[in-house]
Formats: sequence, structure tokens, C-alpha cells
Amino acid sequence: MIQFPGEHSAHAPASSQAVLLDRLGEQLYGIGAVVFVLVVGALLAAAFRPRAAAEDVEDPTRERRMAAIVAAAAGATVATLIAVLFLSFGTGRELTGTPPPDAIQIRVTGRQWFWDVEYRDSLPSRWATTANEIHVPVGRPVVFQLRSTDVIHGFWVPSLGVKRDMIPGQETSVWFRADTPGVYRGQCAEFCGYQHAKMAFTVVAEPPDRFAAWLDRQRDTARTPTDSLTRHGQDVFLASTCVMCHAIGGTPAGSRVGPNLTHLAGRRTIAAGTLPNTRGHLAGWIVDPQQIKPGAHMPPNALAPGELQALLAYLESLE
Ligand code: CUA
Repeated sequence: MIQFPGEHSAHAPASSQAVLLDRLGEQLYGIGAVVFVLVVGALLAAAFRPRAAAEDVEDPTRERRMAAIVAAAAGATVATLIAVLFLSFGTGRELTGTPPPDAIQIRVTGRQWFWDVEYRDSLPSRWATTANEIHVPVGRPVVFQLRSTDVIHGFWVPSLGVKRDMIPGQETSVWFRADTPGVYRGQCAEFCGYQHAKMAFTVVAEPPDRFAAWLDRQRDTARTPTDSLTRHGQDVFLASTCVMCHAIGGTPAGSRVGPNLTHLAGRRTIAAGTLPNTRGHLAGWIVDPQQIKPGAHMPPNALAPGELQALLAYLESLE
């Protein structure tokens, strides 16, 4: 079985927002447990209560007592529901508050079926584009600006308490602050077509200096091939259908249809969290993506063995 990187649990909160949601969950489970015990207790007490012969006779005092009990139960139900409403509303308000002004803005676009990720800057030359793996600094607020270019996707990272739909034609946003460094798995949470289940991603929360170093590397163009094999691989890439959909910074390949591959080798997974980023999986994916993700918008590539090996060596050099 393939092991995927990343924690993926709403009960292992790693951000201040996830802690709020986890706390709300525990409060609701607690209230639900108390209600369950009370209701089942009352049911059992009623079922096993010895029945007096006099009960068939109408008794106004008993009627009044029963009416009072039913009214009290209805009142307790309404009070519980109002308490739950206020708890959820309070948590919702805390979660959706305005993000602090020093928050990092990351623009994520949902596509069938991958995540296009952009780190923008006031200087366009400092923009960085990547895909399916999002790095964030620990301890600093992060705003995700979410968009979609085709259908509705759901951007969801359970461990970070981040969940928001991506709606075509309308930008949405969600913010959080990661408190614990780690690798967290995200998953599309809105059915978006055939490969909805294979639309995952990774969020890497790391110390600010490591994040800054990573972002600097992402802003760089791709590494230039240094030997004949990777040079041949680059030629294969630029002469094949790859170039119709993918971009590699510093080369003529600039399409935004598929994931940006400038620093592909630095990512943990390929095909939107579907496969670990190893040479074997990459080869299988390039040759026949339809076998792995039927319906994906990437065509099969019939490359000669030598060309494939060169292409793999080139892609693996793109750190
Ligand atoms: Cu994208 Cu489901």
C-alpha cells in the first residue's frame, strides 16, 4: 500500500483555527452524550416502571404532573438547542474574523484535477508558482485566496481547520495560523467530477526561515541542465506534447493548463497527491496517466525508452 505524507485528522489540530473547531466538536459531543444518557435513561425507566392498577382510572393530579414533565422536557430541549446554536455561532465568528494585516497571501486555483498555487508579491518578478504542495510558515497568519476555473472544488485541510469552497467566477478566502510544524494532507471536499477523489494536496508548515528559503527557491527559474542526459531530457520535454500544458521557468514552456513543473523534484507527490514522487511512479504517470487517473486531461505519451529515461532524468533534476 502506498503511504502518503501528511497528517489528516480534524482531531489532531495543528492551527489555532483547528483548535477552535476541535473544541466545538468536543462540546457538541459532550452535550450529545448527556442528552443521549438522559433520553435512554428516561425510556428505560418508563419501560420497566411497575404499572399500578389505578393508572387506568382518570386522575387529574397525575394528568397535571405529566403535563408539567412534558413541558419541562420541551423547555430543556429548546434550551439545549439554543446553547448549541450560540456555541456554533461563537466559533464561526472567531473563525471568520478579519485576518491580521501581516498575513501571507497565497492564491490557490482549483482545476480538474489539481491545485495551482501562486505566491504573489508587489514585484511581479518575485511571484512564484507551484502546484499541489503548499508551504506556509509556522506562527504567521496565512490567507488562502481561493478560485476555480471550471467547477466547484472544496479546499480542505482537516488538521489545520481550513475548509472553503472554490467557486468559479467568485473569489473566496479562508485564513489560519499554523502552530505546529508538520506535513498535513488536504483533500478536495466537493464532488468535482471523475477524479474528485484523486485531488489531494500537501501543506508543509515549517519554521519561518526554512519557509523563506523554500520560497526563494520557488521564485528561481528551473535549474539549467548540466550534463548531456538532462540536456537531452529538456529537448524531449520541449519537443513533445508536455510543453502544450506545462510551464518550466526559464524555458520556453509557459502553459498554465497543467501543473507548473519548475521545481517538480522538490515535491513529495505527483498527480495531485495521488502518487509518491519517485522515478518509477513518474515514469508510469508520463507514459499512461489514464491508467492512474482515468479522465485526467493528460494524454498518454509514447516515448522511446531512451527519450523517457532522459526526460525522467531532466524532471528529477528540477529541484
Ligand atoms: Cu476538486 Cu473534488
